[in-house]
Amino acid sequence: MSIQKVGVIGAGQMGGGIAQVCAAAGIEVALSDADLERAEAGKQKIGKILQKQVDKGKLAAADREALLARITPVAGVGSFASCDLVVEAATEHLDTKIAIFKAADAAMRPGAILASNTSSISITRLAGQTSRPELVIGMHFMNPVPLMKLVEVVRGVQTSDDTYRVVSELAAVLGKTIITTRDQPGFVVNRILVPLLNEACFALQEGLASPEDIDQGAKLGLNHPMGPLELADLIGLDTLLAIAEVLHREFGDDKYRPSTTLRNLVAAGWYGRKVGRGFYVYDERGQKTGRAFER
Ligand SMILES: NC(=O)c1ccc[n+]([C@@H]2O[C@H](COP(=O)([O-])OP(=O)(O)OC[C@H]3O[C@@H](n4cnc5c(N)ncnc54)[C@H](O)[C@@H]3O)[C@@H](O)[C@H]2O)c1
Repeated sequence: MSIQKVGVIGAGQMGGGIAQVCAAAGIEVALSDADLERAEAGKQKIGKILQKQVDKGKLAAADREALLARITPVAGVGSFASCDLVVEAATEHLDTKIAIFKAADAAMRPGAILASNTSSISITRLAGQTSRPELVIGMHFMNPVPLMKLVEVVRGVQTSDDTYRVVSELAAVLGKTIITTRDQPGFVVNRILVPLLNEACFALQEGLASPEDIDQGAKLGLNHPMGPLELADLIGLDTLLAIAEVLHREFGDDKYRPSTTLRNLVAAGWYGRKVGRGFYVYDERGQKTGRAFER
């Protein structure tokens, strides 16, 4: 099956990025969110990102227009009947994803693939909510989607070889490289990354060093392109906490317990760069302007 039309559920930073790379590859996209306003806002954000590329001479204005014309904002799941594949990229919350999976499954045609971009939630469990478990798979894009090469393909217990093949081929069409993982909490990438970021939160909480020095330590000492607190702000602290909670609960191992500082920032609504404040403060262009708080 070659993929002609993709549905994307959740028009946030990941859903917007997935819609953008699909449209850039010539695929029609229905971009959905909880309501039409949010779906339209998601498309507008893609338009702004592409405009910056036009301004820098990296993209022709006509190509920007053609790409955007392939993205149609929609509300709910009604328009997914004509999609070959739907990628869910909504908030990292189990009950939200279960409700979405049931609704999308009911709206989609038989044989169409239902993928999740979840960072940590069980693909097997989501598949079990649908009438098409063999067609459910994890397609875990990295942030920011247009720049990051990797897609982690997660095989649930029920995922068929055909589904795996079609999704692997789609990733190649999108210019991505895949790794394949079994269905365990956090898969490969977040199993490694989230304990590292959480440990940086503990280091800050214990007063081990300033946020700037923690980040500098990882950049200059480990050759990481971003420090852990900067990266946590980029991912979204709400998303990071949700993943840490899944790892903690599902493995039953206290080594994954989220730090209190992370919990407090999420409780304050300081979700990171997407809201302008997390460990650091950001301006409208997403540039870091300073520290968000003193311990
Ligand atoms: N942020 C990252 O670095 C990253 C990386 C890889 C995967 N992910 C995963 O991608 C998913 C989305 O993360 P994000 O960073 O884009 O979050 P986000 O907060 O930027 O966007 C989430 C979007 O989902 C929408 N949404 C919530 N409930 C919905 C519903 N019932 N129906 C439709 N839309 C709904 C929200 O309105 C919002 O637009 C999560 O599962 C997350 O774990 C995130």
